[in-house]
Formats: sequence, C-alpha cells, structure tokens
Amino acid sequence: MYLNVQNLTKTYGNFYALDNVSIGVESHEFVCLLGPSGCGKTTLLRIIAGLTQSNGGEVRLLGENLVNLPARQRGFGIVFQSYSLFPNMTVAENIGYGLKIRGVLKADIQARITSLLGTIKLPDVAERYPWQLSGGQQQRVALARAIAVDPRLLLLDEPLSALDAKVRGELRTEIRDLQRSLGIPTLMVTHDQEEALTLADRIICMNHGRVEQSGTPEDLYLRPTTRFVADFMGVSNLIETRYVRECLPALLENRPAGEDDAYIACIRPEQITIIADENGKATVRAISFLGNLNRFEVTYPAGRLIVETHGHINVSEGQRVRFEIRPEDCSWVVSGAV
Ligand SMILES: Nc1ncnc2c1ncn2[C@@H]1O[C@H](COP(=O)(O)OP(=O)(O)OP(=O)(O)O)[C@@H](O)[C@H]1O
Ligand SMILES: [Mg+2]
Repeated sequence: MYLNVQNLTKTYGNFYALDNVSIGVESHEFVCLLGPSGCGKTTLLRIIAGLTQSNGGEVRLLGENLVNLPARQRGFGIVFQSYSLFPNMTVAENIGYGLKIRGVLKADIQARITSLLGTIKLPDVAERYPWQLSGGQQQRVALARAIAVDPRLLLLDEPLSALDAKVRGELRTEIRDLQRSLGIPTLMVTHDQEEALTLADRIICMNHGRVEQSGTPEDLYLRPTTRFVADFMGVSNLIETRYVRECLPALLENRPAGEDDAYIACIRPEQITIIADENGKATVRAISFLGNLNRFEVTYPAGRLIVETHGHINVSEGQRVRFEIRPEDCSWVVSGAV
C-alpha cells in the first residue's frame, strides 16, 4: 500500500473523532472518503496532511513513518472546501508559490504556470487576483497550485461543495481526468454519495469516527455490508429476515448464519420486479414519473418498498402485485443501529 494509515485515534476530551481508523491508498488510486457531517473525514485528512496530531496510530508513505515530518515537508498537495488561495497574490503567483519556495528557476516556474493554466482551462487569468475569479475558477486555480509541485499525494477536502450543481459536475469530471492523466494518488473527502460513486476507484465509507466499509463503488452500492452503508448509498429496501423466511425464502440462500435480527436483506429499487397479480400480497400505492425512470411505492404486509424501472410497466395505482427478487441481488447487512 502506497499510503498506509493504521489504527488512528483522535479524541477531543472524551469524544472520539476517530476511533481506530485504518485506511490505505494505492499509488494510482482515487479514493473517496465518504460519510455524513461530523463523522471525522476532515480530521482524518488533516492528520494525514500533518496539520493535526493524532492520539495514536501511524501514517506511512511507502513504509516511511510520517509522524515527525512537518506538513510542509510531506510533499502533499492540498485543496480545501473554502477557497484557500492567497488573496494578495495573482493567480500566477499562487500557482507558482510552491515552486518559488523550493528555489525553482524563474523561467521554469513561468513555463509550469502557463502549462497548468492550460490544464485547468483558464489560459488568460494569470494576472488576476482571486477576488476577480468565480468560485469554480478559484477552485481550479487551487487545484493547479496543489499539483504544481508534483505532490506525492493529493488531499482534497470537499473541493466542490461550495459550487453550484452544474459547475460541480463539470469540475468533478475535470478532477477525475486530471488525476487519471497525472496518476497522482488522491484522497478526496465528500459527503455526496453520487460524487463518490462517479469519481472513486474505491470508496471508504465512515460513520461516527469509524470505517464502515471500504470497496469499489459497485461493492458499496450493490453489496453493502452494514445497514448504515445500505442507507447512505442511495435508496435501499430493507426487509426483515422474518418476512423473507415467510415470503421470499429463495433469498435466504446467501444469508450469513445468525439470529433473525442480526441481518436484514437489502435490495436496491431497480433490483425488484413487480408483476400485476390479483392474488399478490403487495399493492401499488403511488407511481411517479422521474424522466428516465418510473418509481413505484409498493406496500406489502411487512412494510413498504420502492421499486424503479426504466421502461413502462403495465401496473396502475391501487393494483395488486407480487414482487420478484433474484437471490444474487440481495445483500445481507448487519442490522445494527444507523
Ligand atoms: N478542534 C476540535 N475540538 C473539538 N471537537 C472537534 C474539533 N475538531 C473537530 N471536532 C469534532 O470532531 C468530529 C469530526 O469532525 P470533522 O471536521 O472531522 O467532521 P467531517 O466528517 O469533516 O464533517 P463535515 O462533513 O461537516 O465537514 C465532529 O463531531 C467535530 O465537532
Ligand atoms: Mg469536513
């Protein structure tokens, strides 16, 4: 593992902001740290950056323990959520800052600035000050500044969250392309699950200062292992074991052994097929048209399900239906508190 973080703990008084967290980033990987507000994402990123001290645990880069290495000597590029450009420097001075303090030749710095301005698609803003740029442009410049020094690791803390949806979408793709082409190992914090699904090679999902699950976007979406992940990663239908045993016994085939209330079946809305059936035990309560898909709210004796289809299906509100779920589409998640 390129970056290897082991057993990090951070407490504030008797509150555990991080509770024995271990994560890693491979040398070309784009990893997203995903989790709700307050779960410890920024704290973890700041400890890796060397900006906050942990109470215990290790941060290693290619085996080297970074504990006594000050932030500025770690050689990491960092972009924060709020614009952190130096306000009294032009765009060019901001981007060139890291190279200048490393004593790089003036002409080389100039060439690098010009090239980076091309990379971030802002060739003409070199002489402007940060306040003369839009939010999206400022974040592009912050990104250029972070990568100017060929960082060993890129750390991004919600760099897109202050931007409107359209700009955020565009910049998201740009960050991904840039990371791919430069191959810089990247750890990006976000609380937006869609952003993590689109960008990440791997997602580390956190809750209450702990890692809930780490895996590819497909793993977390299609094979969540905890109830928290199932709920956090989009819409999930959770069906209690008791009901599965009674009405959908085929799904039990891949259930881990354990008490009935230890695991819940999790099925995504698009993995359920509903079929009109007079003798069906479920009823369609509402149908909504969402453009590219149809969403059905279905009640059944043990609760309520959300079902989504891409094409039109022949059922109407109030109609009786049965539902079908393929056993391989069912994930069994630990049913602990959310
Ligand atoms: N200096 C501090 N003193 C006390 N508590 C702190 C301090 N810094 C962070 N915390 C607490 O630690 C927890 C984790 O904070 P952190 O900023 O890492 O969360 P986050 O996951 O980045 O949240 P967000 O998505 O809102 O940015 C929070 O409950 C926060 O209140
Ligand atoms: Mg944060």
